[in-house]
Amino acid sequence: MTQSLYILNGPNLNMLGRRETDIYGDVTLEAIARSCTRRAGTHGFDVAFHQSNDEGELVDLIHEAGAKGAGIVLNAGAYTHTSVALLDALRAVDLPTVEVHLSNIFRREEFRRHSFVSQAAVGVISGLGPIGYELAIDALAAHIGIASA
Ligand code: DQA
Repeated sequence: MTQSLYILNGPNLNMLGRRETDIYGDVTLEAIARSCTRRAGTHGFDVAFHQSNDEGELVDLIHEAGAKGAGIVLNAGAYTHTSVALLDALRAVDLPTVEVHLSNIFRREEFRRHSFVSQAAVGVISGLGPIGYELAIDALAAHIGIASA
């Protein structure tokens, strides 16, 4: 059976393409979903792609990933900087997770420089725009391959 990578997106990422385009660019989340599906396919993975503005729903999706998935790519949006609940969920499921941000959170406001998610992530990709998701999939596929070898 084909394994799934869970690509999870937090609040306001449904607005990509229209939202602060000077920071986040004009690529929509739907376009990112398509490129993720293509990229994961080259590694032999399916994709479960989700976006939610609700912290609890993201916790549930992380739990679902733990039950059904092989790894997680997570752009938690603003919850990155605030959510102990997401960190605890990631620790609870213990799946390899790559954290992604479209923008470079380290050259923005001070409050964006801290990430709870990072404490449970294999690695972080920040500032490379939509291609960051594809690089995260490559990294996750390599990590899972190494982990299962
Ligand atoms: C973001 C960065 C966060 O600080 C912000 O709250 C977002 C998007 C990014 O992809 O650059 O919503 O995660």
